[in-house]
Amino acid sequence: MFFRREIVLCRTSIIRWLCCKRFTLIKGLVFVLALSLVSSFFFSYHLMFFNFGLVKRQADPPQPIVSCRVDNIMPKNQLRLPKDHSSEAGLRIGRKVLIMVETQFSKSGTKITHLLEALRIDFKVETTGKNIPTLTHADKGKFAVIIFENFDAYVNMDNWNRQLLDKYCREYDVGMIVFVPSKEDSDEEIVPGFPLRLQYNLALENYKLNEFSNIWRLTKAGETFQGRLPGNDWTVFHTNHSTYEPLSFSQLATLDDESTVSSTNQRHLVAALYDSGQYDGIRRVLYGNCLNFWIHQLIFIDSLSFFSHGKLSITLHRYIQVDVDDIFVGKEGIRMKVVDVEAMAAAQTRLQQDIDGFHFNLGFSGKYYLHGLPEEDDGDRKLIEYRDKFWWFGHMWRHEQAHKFDEAYLAKSMQLNYQFARSHGISVNKYYAVAPHHSGVYPVHEELYNAWRNVWDIKVTSTEEYPHLRPYWRRRGFIYRGIMVLPRQVCGLFTHTIFVDDFEGGREGLDNNIKGGELFQTFLINPVNIFMTHLSNYGNDRLALYTFESVVKFVKCWTNLKLRSLPPLQLGLKYFEMFPEEKDPLWQNPCEYKRHIMIWSENKTCDRLPKFLIIGPQKTGTTALYTFLTMHPTIISNFNSKETFEEVQFFNGNNYYKGLDWYMEFFPLPKNATSNYLFEKSANYFDNDLVPIRAHALLPRVKIICILLSPAKRAYSWYQHMRAHQDVTALNYSFYDIITATEMAPRRVRDLRTRCLNPGMYAQHLLRWLDYFPSRQLFIIDGEQLRNDPVHVMHHLQRFLHIEPYLDYGQYLRYDPKKGFFCQVMNDKLNKCLGRGKGRTYPQMGKASTRFLKHHYKKHNIALSKLLNKLNTVIPDWLQDELRDS
Ligand code: A3P
Repeated sequence: MFFRREIVLCRTSIIRWLCCKRFTLIKGLVFVLALSLVSSFFFSYHLMFFNFGLVKRQADPPQPIVSCRVDNIMPKNQLRLPKDHSSEAGLRIGRKVLIMVETQFSKSGTKITHLLEALRIDFKVETTGKNIPTLTHADKGKFAVIIFENFDAYVNMDNWNRQLLDKYCREYDVGMIVFVPSKEDSDEEIVPGFPLRLQYNLALENYKLNEFSNIWRLTKAGETFQGRLPGNDWTVFHTNHSTYEPLSFSQLATLDDESTVSSTNQRHLVAALYDSGQYDGIRRVLYGNCLNFWIHQLIFIDSLSFFSHGKLSITLHRYIQVDVDDIFVGKEGIRMKVVDVEAMAAAQTRLQQDIDGFHFNLGFSGKYYLHGLPEEDDGDRKLIEYRDKFWWFGHMWRHEQAHKFDEAYLAKSMQLNYQFARSHGISVNKYYAVAPHHSGVYPVHEELYNAWRNVWDIKVTSTEEYPHLRPYWRRRGFIYRGIMVLPRQVCGLFTHTIFVDDFEGGREGLDNNIKGGELFQTFLINPVNIFMTHLSNYGNDRLALYTFESVVKFVKCWTNLKLRSLPPLQLGLKYFEMFPEEKDPLWQNPCEYKRHIMIWSENKTCDRLPKFLIIGPQKTGTTALYTFLTMHPTIISNFNSKETFEEVQFFNGNNYYKGLDWYMEFFPLPKNATSNYLFEKSANYFDNDLVPIRAHALLPRVKIICILLSPAKRAYSWYQHMRAHQDVTALNYSFYDIITATEMAPRRVRDLRTRCLNPGMYAQHLLRWLDYFPSRQLFIIDGEQLRNDPVHVMHHLQRFLHIEPYLDYGQYLRYDPKKGFFCQVMNDKLNKCLGRGKGRTYPQMGKASTRFLKHHYKKHNIALSKLLNKLNTVIPDWLQDELRDS
C-alpha cells in the first residue's frame, strides 16, 4: 500500500516537472540518464532474484587440475602390479579383526571401527587392561589381524596377556596394526623392549610412500602428497634395526613465519613403519598418527589385506554410475546451454578412458523440457540431438514426490513421461528409475513400487535414505517386491551448487572433498558408487564435470582401483552378487527419523504399531494371556490373520517381506494414541534369531513379554499339539523317539526334534533379545503362575506396562472346575473358556522322556537361573524344582 502510494506521488511530480514550460535539452539528457539508471537497476534486480546465477557468472568454468606428479624412483616398466596377499596361512585364521581400545568411547578407536564397518569387515572390540578374549576355536585362529589403538597399551600389557597374544601372533602368523599417538609431556622416548626411538608432537609436510614395500595392493605408491599433514601431533620413528622398513617419508613442516627449518630437519622422517618380524617374530605396521590422514586409511586397508594373508582383501573393482536428477528440471539461468551439453559429452568421452563403459545417466521429467531462456532451450534440444550418447531413465512427468500420491496418479504421471520419451526418440535405459527427493523408496510407498513395476517395469532404483543418509559409510541396499534398491552416494553437489563459490569452503572445500575427502573415501570404501547430481551442476560452472574428472584422476593417481560402469540392471545384479546378505530389508520406524517422516505419506501413522509384543514361546499359555489382555478396555490386539492361526507372524518369516504397510493393516487406528495399547502376540517370535533384530529396528521402545514354563513340559505340550494337528511324523513317532532322535534319524524326525526342543533353551534365546533390548523393557511371566493365579499375573503386568485404567481381573476371571483352568466370567453361572485346543487332556509324560529331558535341559536351566538372578527376577518354583532334582 505504502509503496504504491509513493510510486504514484513520484510519478505525478516527474510528469509535472517534465511538462513545465521551461523544458530544456539538459532536462531531456537528465531524464534519459535517469531512465537508463532505473532500468539497469530493475534489470539487475530481476536477475539477482529470479536468475540469481547470472549475477555471479564467471568467465570460464574451472578446469580439472589433478595430474599425477609421480616422481618414481622405479623405471616405469618395473612398476609393481597390485600384490596378491593370499597365502596358505590364511586357511588357519578367521575373518575377524580384534581391536584393543583404551575405552569403548575413545575417538581413534571409533574411527577404526567406522572404517572397518564401512569396509564390511567383522570386528570385536575389547578394552585393554582386561583379559584378552579367547583367540582360537577348534585349532583355528579367530582373528586375522590385531589392532592396538595405542602402542603403549600393548607395550605395557601384563605379562600373561602379552605372552598369550604374542604367541598367538607367532603361531598363526597374524600381524598387528598399531597406532602410536604422541605424548603431551614428552618429546622423545625409547620404546622399552624394542630397538625403536619415538619422536613426538611434530608438524609434518609432504608425504611419500615407499614404492618398494610389499604391502601395497590397493595403494599406488609413487605420488607425493604435497603440503601440511593434518595436526601437530605426529610421531616419527627412528631405528637402525633391519626388521624395520619405512612405509612413508615426510619432512618437518615449514614454520608458520615462513622461515624454513634447518636443512637437517628436511631429511626424510618416517611416520609409518613396517616391522617384518625379524626382531621378535611378530609382524606389525606402526602408525605415527591415527586415521585422520587419508593416506593412512590407504595404508590401513592394505595392512589388513597383507596381515590377513588376503582374507581381508577388499575388491579392487569400483562400479561407477553418475545420475542426473533430472536433466530438464531447473529454473531459467541455471540450465544447460548448447556449449554445456557439448562439454558434458566431451567430458564423458574423457571419463571413458578411465572408467570403462562410462555414460552419464540422465533422468528426465518431460514436463520441463524447453522451460528455460531461449539459449537454454537450445541446450535442451541439443540434449535430444545427443540423446544416443547418454543413458536415460524415467521419472515422474512433473518431478513430484511420490509419497503424496496414489497409485493411479503415479502411473498416469509415469505414462505421460513415457510418451515424452517415445515422441522424442529417447531410448530409455529400462529397469531403472529414481524417485524425486527419495520419496517413496524408503520408507516404502507401496503405490510407487506398484506403479514402477506396471508402467516402466522397474527392477532397480537407488536411494541415500536406507538405512539413513548419515553416516554415509553405513548406507546399504535391499530388495523389495523384486525391485533392487541400491545405496546412492552424494558427491557434495546439490541443486544450489551452481558456481564453485556455492560449495562449502569454495574451491578449496571442493578440492579437499576430491583429494582425500569424503568423495574420495566414497570411492575407496564402496565397490558400487551411484552418485546423484543435478541439472544445475552441469550448466554455468559445470561443477559435476570438474568434480568427477578430478576425483577419477585422483583415484587413479593414488590407487590401483579399476573403475567401470555397468547398465543399471546389471549393476543391481552385481551389487547383490557381492552382498547377498543385504537382500533382506530391515524396516525401521519412519517416525523415529525426521527425514523419513518428511517423505512418508501423511495418510500413514506410527500409531498403528504395537506398544508391546507377546513373543512366546509356544505352548506356555500365550493364548490365555492374549485373551485376558483383550478383556481390558484400552488394550487392543491385532486383527486376526487367516493364514497363520490368528497370529500375524510378521517378524519371523516371509510376511516380513510384505512390508510395513502390510503389518500396519493388522492394527486398528487407535481412538487415543496415548492411552490405547496396541499389542501383538506371535508365539514363535521367542526363538527366532532374526526377530529381536527386526523388532528392535522397527519398535525400539516396544515392551517384550515372554512366558516361561518347565521346558520339558512345554516340549511335551508342543508334541501333543502337533499330534492334534495331524502332523504325520508326530503321529508316527513317540515323544521319546522324537526327542532322542540322533543324526541317523530321518530328516523330518530331526526337524521335529529341533522344533520341539529348541525353544526350551530359554537363557540362550533371552540373551539374544537382551542384545537388542534393555532388560527394563522385558517382562518374564512364570507360566505356572499364569495358569494357577492369573489375577496376580495380570496385576503385575498392568503395572509393568503402566496401563490405565487399572482392571481388577479378580472380577473377570474365575476358575472353571470342568475345564481345569481359569476362564472369563460371563455372568454368575457362565464362564467363557479357551477352546478345546488349549488345556488338552493327554497321558502323562513317560518316565524315560522325563529323565532324558531333565538331563537335556540341565545346563540350560542352570544358565536360566543365573540370568534371572542377574535380572533380579524371581526364580519360578518349577525351575527351583528342576535344579534341585538334577
Ligand atoms: P496344554 O493344552 O498342553 O495344556 P499356548 O496358548 O501358548 O499354545 O499354550 C497352551 C497352553 O496354555 C495349554 O497347554 C495350557 O496348559 C496353558 N494354559 C494356561 N492357562 C490356560 C487357560 N486359562 N486356559 C487354557 N490353557 C491354559
